Amino acid sequence: MHTSELRADLLDADFTVDRLQGLWGPVADAALARDNPVPARRALAGREHPAAVLARLFLLGDALDSAQIDRALPRTGAAGLRARGLLGPDGRALVEVRPYSAVDATGVVNWWVVSDHGEMVRRGPLSADHVLGVGGASLTLAGLVPTSPARRVLDLGTGSGVQALHARRSAASVVATDLSDRALRLAALTLELSGVDNVELRHGDMLTPVAGERFDRIVSNPPFVITPRERGVDVLEYRDGGRVGDGIVEELVRALPDHLEPGGTAHLLGNWEYPAGTDGLDRVRAWVEAAGLDAWVIERDRQDAAEYAETWLRDGGVRTASETFEALAEAWLDDFAARGVTHVGFGYLTLRRPANTSAPRLRRFERVATAAPSGTSGLGDAIAAGFAAHDQIAALDDVAFARMHATVAPDVTEERHFWPGAEHPTVMRLVQGTGLGRVVDLDTGLGAVVGACDGELPMGVIVAAVADLLDVDAGALAAEVLPRMRELAVVGMITLADHRE
Ligand SMILES: C[S@@+](CC[C@H](N)C(=O)[O-])C[C@H]1O[C@@H](n2cnc3c(N)ncnc32)[C@H](O)[C@@H]1O
Repeated sequence: MHTSELRADLLDADFTVDRLQGLWGPVADAALARDNPVPARRALAGREHPAAVLARLFLLGDALDSAQIDRALPRTGAAGLRARGLLGPDGRALVEVRPYSAVDATGVVNWWVVSDHGEMVRRGPLSADHVLGVGGASLTLAGLVPTSPARRVLDLGTGSGVQALHARRSAASVVATDLSDRALRLAALTLELSGVDNVELRHGDMLTPVAGERFDRIVSNPPFVITPRERGVDVLEYRDGGRVGDGIVEELVRALPDHLEPGGTAHLLGNWEYPAGTDGLDRVRAWVEAAGLDAWVIERDRQDAAEYAETWLRDGGVRTASETFEALAEAWLDDFAARGVTHVGFGYLTLRRPANTSAPRLRRFERVATAAPSGTSGLGDAIAAGFAAHDQIAALDDVAFARMHATVAPDVTEERHFWPGAEHPTVMRLVQGTGLGRVVDLDTGLGAVVGACDGELPMGVIVAAVADLLDVDAGALAAEVLPRMRELAVVGMITLADHRE
């Protein structure tokens, strides 16, 4: 069986996200996202549409007879799937083939992502060489990567190949690596079925397969899950890179300068430990500073050690009320205790090898707990714009900065809250509609300056006029407002130009 035949069969079957949602409806779709296959199975019962048959085979893990499979995949047939090791003797698919749809600046794409079946179908703990399907973290990372054109991109720890699919949309060529042979086999199938070329798959530990090579962009959802290295705790290859504590993220950050072109960027997810009395983000800062990188690091979540262990034990299919769970949770807490770790942070790292080493560094480390209004989609471009804004203004003193013309971004609105009957607001805020959905408290001075920023006048002229209006000292107002305007520019709430728009 040629993969191109299976691709042609999947295309003819219209085995797509839209078709499946049409076949089983929103309730079954939501239930599947919660690992409940029953509504979908009921909706598909008795449906002979090839997409319905393929959904039962590849997504629900049902056992089908060969004749049904032959009708749904006429070129490939059950025999073709068996020959490729994709179908077991009992008529069940040995892998998940999931229709996956994405929208980006260049339009809509429909791909198929091949991975192992998740817990819903396996009904038990995951095997050591389990290849992860597209999950929340995969989508988060895909959204964190900017969409501007790049020549060469590295996808480190490609797994099912999902990041390589996305990366190839904006890159001329992609190198995708993994330590797992099984992942590389499934990623190859993902790429072939999806009709995506110019992705080179390489085997090896972390950056070893790309020794001596540099990339414009590095994308990785690395195996960062902190796992005890002893006492019979199984290694799950898809999430555990085999290092102690958060060593894998540290190692990766420190090694990046050798693998990025000047100005090249890396987009990673990661965990970082909080040893008692130490801020986890300060640890990340130390890694970044040692590597000499620009950095924008966002901590999205922080769990205590017990919660962290529970999360990842459940993720590996270990049920809470069991002796196995308790023994493993002990091992996890002992491991954390050995390093004095009380909490673990999770978040996004955007790192850049400076193109100009004498320019001021961007180093932002922040906790952003609120959910972004549009998920992470577009976040990568928003962060890239933040780096660009930093480059535009970091070297300017306040006099030069105040000569620039600012325009409030189109997704920014102002909220005002009043005590009932009051003439003046008690609270004024700027609210961002995209990116990280930031909310910035305004005082009268900043509110008046931002309100007048339509690109017409230099910021300095606006500040002087507002000072006049409020009867305050113009120099003092400028000293207060201009640093906040710099911040608004970096987070994308105003845009700056040297001249009138
Ligand atoms: C969390 S998965 C990410 C999969 C995929 N990129 C995504 O975003 O969904 C991490 C991947 O790293 C691979 N991996 C584990 N240890 C590794 C190592 N030491 N070096 C390189 N890759 C490794 C795993 O096999 C797995 O495919």
